[in-house]
Amino acid sequence: MDSNYQDRIPNNVGLGANRTLQRALEHWQPEFLNWWHGLGPSDFNASSVYLRTAISVDTKGWATFDYVKMPDYRWGIFLAQEENDRRVGFGDHFGQPVWQQVPGEHRSTLRRLIVTQGDTEPASVEQQRLLGHTAPSLYDLRNLFQVNVEEGRHLWAMVYLLHAYFGRDGREEAEELLERHSGDADNPRILSTFNEPISDWLSFYMFTYFTDRDGKFQLKSLAESSFDPLSRTCKFMLTEEAHHMFVGDTGIGRVIKRTIEVMKELGTDDPIALRKAGVIDLPTIQRYLNFWFSSSLDLFGGDSSSNAASYFANGLKGRPDEIKYEDHIEAESSFTLELPNGKGGVREERIPMRNAVNEVVREAYVRDCEKGLARWNRHLEEAGYPQRMTLPSTRFRRTVGSWANAATNPEGKPITKEEFNSHLDDWLPTPDDRAYVHSVMHGVFERGKMANWIAPPERGINTQPVNFEYVKFQ
Ligand SMILES: [Fe+2]
Ligand SMILES: [Fe+2]
Repeated sequence: MDSNYQDRIPNNVGLGANRTLQRALEHWQPEFLNWWHGLGPSDFNASSVYLRTAISVDTKGWATFDYVKMPDYRWGIFLAQEENDRRVGFGDHFGQPVWQQVPGEHRSTLRRLIVTQGDTEPASVEQQRLLGHTAPSLYDLRNLFQVNVEEGRHLWAMVYLLHAYFGRDGREEAEELLERHSGDADNPRILSTFNEPISDWLSFYMFTYFTDRDGKFQLKSLAESSFDPLSRTCKFMLTEEAHHMFVGDTGIGRVIKRTIEVMKELGTDDPIALRKAGVIDLPTIQRYLNFWFSSSLDLFGGDSSSNAASYFANGLKGRPDEIKYEDHIEAESSFTLELPNGKGGVREERIPMRNAVNEVVREAYVRDCEKGLARWNRHLEEAGYPQRMTLPSTRFRRTVGSWANAATNPEGKPITKEEFNSHLDDWLPTPDDRAYVHSVMHGVFERGKMANWIAPPERGINTQPVNFEYVKFQ
């Protein structure tokens, strides 16, 4: 069924033919808009923003670009094209037809998986709600709002599944997605990373690079699901998600590029001199990176997990790009974990492969993260500097899994708690770092102008020039 862009809720799920579902969603929509006005981007709701809107799932023309006031954004519901005769790709039901309805025995688990994913989407909008005021350019302001409206659409995507497939409890869960709030002491978002406020743009770029990338891997794992509507929803969300990570990747790259320029001008890499010149020194960028990378690693869950094993066995949530693995059943295979031995060293333990799915996905994520570092380090290499950005070890500063609260250095070597504490200021953003980074954040809203601490992007959005009027204020 084709979507109609003019519909109140653009969709390709045949909403017009399902009155009950349409009514449920039309009831939820004003609550969503209330939430957007109260906890979405602050103070820019009257501005016209050059935004991308999903209008179909056709890979050649799935979106249009135009000026939109954010509250008028058309949050639609899109599922990727149905695959002919799609089969369960992994686990105990391998090779059987996929499910178009929720099997009773997996109902509560699937609902939980959908709610947990859905909860992160509005959470990130809440975390970022004040950032617009300090945007380094109109280009960046527009990108922030693009990310925000699309996270809003991802919430719609999960709410659609809850309404369409989970009846009354699904509708209740959909309401609660608007009732939990990021950082709320009484009713916080489900995952702790999504309760950290994002109040500066360096954190925003780190978030979109590292945390949205966790989102990519979660979506890819759910795109493998035997519950076909979930799979198709997540496949389409990935199309939008790519731009969010692009914002982080190029954002961090531009910060580093600008710092290098000033290092050259001043002939020094001294953080004090660089801060005097108003740019962000490389060690501070590295400390932010250490913080956001380690916090995002926790989102994958425990390294040995019976939940992950049962999701895999039952075909609910798999490994990204399952087709690339040789064994899709993994009933007999095992995985070797490295764990702290409690005496300051490391020991190995063999666990069933199915229990190690979180760790396998986390490893794939780390490899994906490294690509950005290679790009950023190329700037340093080309400028003739020996410094390099590095990813800390997956053992470093973890709060989930076998390495939770085990003291290690960023290379992953176990150390004493005292040693760890004595190095905290070298490894993680200090209150002083945060205060400095905040001090350079001022909104730059003149066409084509950039804040001093960041280089301009190489190109604009949708073939528009960098100095395009990406946001028109009212
Ligand atoms: Fe998202
Ligand atoms: Fe995202």
